[in-house]
Amino acid sequence: MKDAILIVGCGSIGERHLRCFQRTGREEVAACDANAPLLQRVAQQYGVASFTDFNAALAARRYDGIVICTPAHTHVDLALAALRHGAALFIEKPLSTSLAKVDELLDAVAKSGRFTAVAYVYHLMPWVLGAREFLRSGELGRPLHASVVTGQHFPTFRPAYREIYYTRHETGGGAIQDALTHIANAVEWLVGPTTRLFCDAAHQALEGVTVEDTVNVAARNGGVLVNYALNQFQAPNEMTLQIHCEGGSMRVEGHEQRWSVFRRGASAWEHHKAAPLERDDIFIAQANAFLDGMHGKPTPLATIAEAAQTLKFNLAALESACSGKAVEIA
Ligand SMILES: NC(=O)c1ccc[n+]([C@@H]2O[C@H](COP(=O)([O-])OP(=O)(O)OC[C@H]3O[C@@H](n4cnc5c(N)ncnc54)[C@H](O)[C@@H]3O)[C@@H](O)[C@H]2O)c1
Repeated sequence: MKDAILIVGCGSIGERHLRCFQRTGREEVAACDANAPLLQRVAQQYGVASFTDFNAALAARRYDGIVICTPAHTHVDLALAALRHGAALFIEKPLSTSLAKVDELLDAVAKSGRFTAVAYVYHLMPWVLGAREFLRSGELGRPLHASVVTGQHFPTFRPAYREIYYTRHETGGGAIQDALTHIANAVEWLVGPTTRLFCDAAHQALEGVTVEDTVNVAARNGGVLVNYALNQFQAPNEMTLQIHCEGGSMRVEGHEQRWSVFRRGASAWEHHKAAPLERDDIFIAQANAFLDGMHGKPTPLATIAEAAQTLKFNLAALESACSGKAVEIA
């Protein structure tokens, strides 16, 4: 029998998850969204059962997995209810907008025995996975210094940015919680958790909002010095991450879909390019990974504990940008 999956929140990313879970052909999907006209359109388009109320959806039947795709400030309460229902849990990033109830959630996850993960999608990008595998082989020795330069023209990729959660920090908005969090989580996955950071951020360009769209962070991830430069108005959609180690350097270029290595003594980069992928391909791989995890198989997905650590990065960055001081992360 196919697994039953409920998608909660069928806006931009929820609809993508619905479509990509369906594309795995491994489960029966139902949809829930408080916005009735939107839900009706999605239910018709994808031919799925639909509910405008989360509790009514839970009462209607038992789900094996619940995918939470609502704005970030609602994630933890919905996740706790989903665990009480007995479902495996997949939560969109960021885990939340504060640490309230996060320990309660971690405790409930441990007691539930259910598979749980957070949808930090860089974990499914072959160029990040390849770089991580190589880094962990230890061939280049200890990572010492990392830097990320990244950005995109947000209005092109998310034309509705003025009307969604993005407009306020309280609902998960701004460049730190919306975009930088992906990169910070990927860097933590590659070189370990952030322990200290200084953040400078400002609203530089995006029309119709006041939240920061440009961020610089100088961080320490234990013994690794890391810096990030990100904006959401530049023309090219690019992400370049470099990690310099004792025995050479590594580079991940998201826009080239490749990772590269430059060993000490070599004269050129050695590139490892992934087969061309469309955006949905990565989300289909992510859906498959979640379904694998539900069935006890290993997956590269971010754990809730890792996402809680990245949530501390987000909150420290917001605090530092506000105070002008460096922040230690416990
Ligand atoms: N992984 C990615 O690449 C990626 C991309 C975009 C967004 N996100 C994340 O996904 C989340 C949602 O983002 P989005 O862009 O889809 O937002 P969105 O505003 O397009 O959609 C959110 C939907 O949730 C619904 N909703 C809110 N509260 C609800 C509730 N209690 N019950 C049922 N429905 C409810 C809203 O009606 C809305 O349709 C955010 O946390 C965001 O950071 C991740």
